[in-house]
Amino acid sequence: MSAQYICCATERHMGEGDAGTLIQGGLPACAGALVSRYEQQVQTIYLDPPFNTGKCFEMKARVGEKGYKTGSPSLSLPAYDDRWESREAYLAMMREALTLSRALLKKEGTIFLHIDSRMYAHLRLLMDEVFGESNFLNEIIWSYQTGGRARTYFPRKHDIILFYARSRSYYFNLKGVPIARSEARSNHMRRGVDEDGRSYRSIMSGGREYRYYDDEPAYPGDVWDDISHLQQKDPQRTGYETQKPLKLLERIIRCATQEGDLVGDLFCGSGTTAVAAAQLGRRFLCLDQSPLAVASAEKRLCQTTAGRPQPFGYSVEAPCGPDDCRVEAEVFPAISSYTVRLISFECDAAREAGITGLDAVDQWSAGFVQGDVYRSCVVSARSVSTPKLQTMMEMPVCAGEPCVMIVDIWGNRRFYLPRRRY
Ligand SMILES: C[S@@+](CC[C@H](N)C(=O)[O-])C[C@H]1O[C@@H](n2cnc3c(N)ncnc32)[C@H](O)[C@@H]1O
Repeated sequence: MSAQYICCATERHMGEGDAGTLIQGGLPACAGALVSRYEQQVQTIYLDPPFNTGKCFEMKARVGEKGYKTGSPSLSLPAYDDRWESREAYLAMMREALTLSRALLKKEGTIFLHIDSRMYAHLRLLMDEVFGESNFLNEIIWSYQTGGRARTYFPRKHDIILFYARSRSYYFNLKGVPIARSEARSNHMRRGVDEDGRSYRSIMSGGREYRYYDDEPAYPGDVWDDISHLQQKDPQRTGYETQKPLKLLERIIRCATQEGDLVGDLFCGSGTTAVAAAQLGRRFLCLDQSPLAVASAEKRLCQTTAGRPQPFGYSVEAPCGPDDCRVEAEVFPAISSYTVRLISFECDAAREAGITGLDAVDQWSAGFVQGDVYRSCVVSARSVSTPKLQTMMEMPVCAGEPCVMIVDIWGNRRFYLPRRRY
């Protein structure tokens, strides 16, 4: 007998406090609901939207134990479509995203809009219009060396991050983002050692000597060339195309927020912002329309919290996948704990793709459902270090009905009431 399919609107991961919320939803449809819940609550927003590339992006997924063991992606799945009817259609979507961002930001808030040279000129003007020219703070150049090398023009090796404030009383902490002093950058300076034995580099300007001590931190300017793009074999890589490095988000979050602040990302993709925020003790509000993005972000969050002495709690709000699978799962109630077993998972999409049994499951959890809220207690997610899913997990007894949540390799999530065994 198959486990019973049910729907849950919210998934709450048990743990300390509330680290944030991950929402599967698209703009502009979600805008009204976000404003009514989060108006003027967000300290900083990072937006890494589609760049109007005219391409479809993929997720290079690993499938089953073998896929994770061999280390090579087994399947390319459509992640998001960056083709637009016209430039106007793209800019209309961006106008919605920027207007919504402004409504969500606190008065002291700031926004970072990550773009490339394609739509730069249009988006710079749109930012001026929505946030006000006088609230422009920086045009940050993120320069990197990865990717191909053009021969008919200079290779394009930078992205642009437009940094604006919500008002003139914004929060910014440059001291929160120290960097290593670069020898190459200061080789035009004179080296010296002062009377206390501290070495420095100095430069004369306007008849005055400026000293930069080696033991004092340096701070980034508006050209960031010390953060590299993800390499092919980078362990951070999720397989989600256009994923950004954690270091980039860490710098943004550290300079623009304090612990406990809310960080927003309305195009969160694989969840880089959510992970960086949670690691830095900030809360996150992350949105993406793609089920693969949300599944990928959820998995990263789950791996981030699992390694901590005090796991943090967070919520996921996403539509349920269709009731088109046959799942066998059972629960063995005991006095103070329940053991849950995932036996089988079958769906037509997997059969058509030649994927059998639990290979189509990328992560699952067990917990309790009350109303339309599911609280997960124990999770098993595939990764390079744990390619095999745990099929038997023990959880403490909590209020509600025992329930399992399964995320398949397409990012669909489904909830089931397992069969009770006594
Ligand atoms: C460049 S990617 C973001 C990558 C992300 N920064 C990361 O590190 O993985 C852009 C994302 O925007 C999402 N997206 C595109 N249009 C959207 C919309 N209208 N509403 C919400 N998300 C959207 C796509 O699904 C995609 O995941």
